[in-house]
Order: sequence, then C-alpha cells, then structure tokens
Amino acid sequence: PEDRFDAFRALDDRRGRPGARLIESLVEARAGTADSPEAWAPAAAVGVGLPAAAALGPASYYADLAAPHGRRHVRICAATACFAAQAGRHLGDVERELGVDADAVSPDGETSLQAVRCLGYCYAGPAALDGDKPCTGPTLTGQLAGREPAQA
Ligand code: FES
Repeated sequence: PEDRFDAFRALDDRRGRPGARLIESLVEARAGTADSPEAWAPAAAVGVGLPAAAALGPASYYADLAAPHGRRHVRICAATACFAAQAGRHLGDVERELGVDADAVSPDGETSLQAVRCLGYCYAGPAALDGDKPCTGPTLTGQLAGREPAQA
C-alpha cells in the first residue's frame, strides 16, 4: 500500500460514500497543531464536502484526534503488556528526555507526548510511536532521544 489510508480509500471508493475521507482529512488537519478540534476540524469537513458540524463529533471522540499535537507527536503505550514491560518507568524517562509531560505539548509547541492504550506492538513492549515511526524495547527512551536506532 502507498500509505496507511490506502485500504480505507479503496473501500470508500467502492461504496461511493460522500465524505468518506473525513477521518483522513481530520488526521491531516490535526497534525502539528496544539489547537482544540473546534479550531481545525470544521474546515476539514468542508474540505471533503460535508457540513462543518459533521467534524466535531469524530474529532472529539477519537482520543488521537482530540489530543493536542506538537510538530513532533510522540505516542507512548501505557496498556497492560507494555506496563508489564516497565512502561511506567519509561514514561517518566521519556517525559524528562523530551521535556514535556504526558498528554501535553511543550511550551514552544514543538513536541507533544500522548499516553495511549496499545499501539499494536505488544510483543515488543514497551512501545512508542514517534510520528509514524515505531520505537520499542528497553532502549525506548534512547531511541526517542536519537541516541539509539529505532526498533520495531
Ligand atoms: Fe503496548 Fe500493546 S500493550 S503496544
């Protein structure tokens, strides 16, 4: 696939649903802004041919869209498998390393850190996503700091 939305695009195209690209449009609009969904979601809906109000429900429902994003957005897993792999300790280390608390954006808007429930890398926890790049294992903090090669 060309990108992570390819399978959804193909399905939506077959169904011929108007505005089927709303989620993709919301993800693109969310990237790199710490503003609340009210500031960016309506334009995303209008851009795919839906009324502006159609965007606020999904934009506030999905945690990944509702969370504030810096220009660099890091998601770190705090779910069961990663918790068993000392994710709690890693979360504290990552907060200190990146200079931002969980579920917050750094004061300069550069970096955001979001604690999430499972990223699909349970077998290799603790796990994080640095943008779309997976980072896993005991060197997680070093990977996010750029001192270690990323592992998935
Ligand atoms: Fe952490 Fe699934 S529990 S990636």
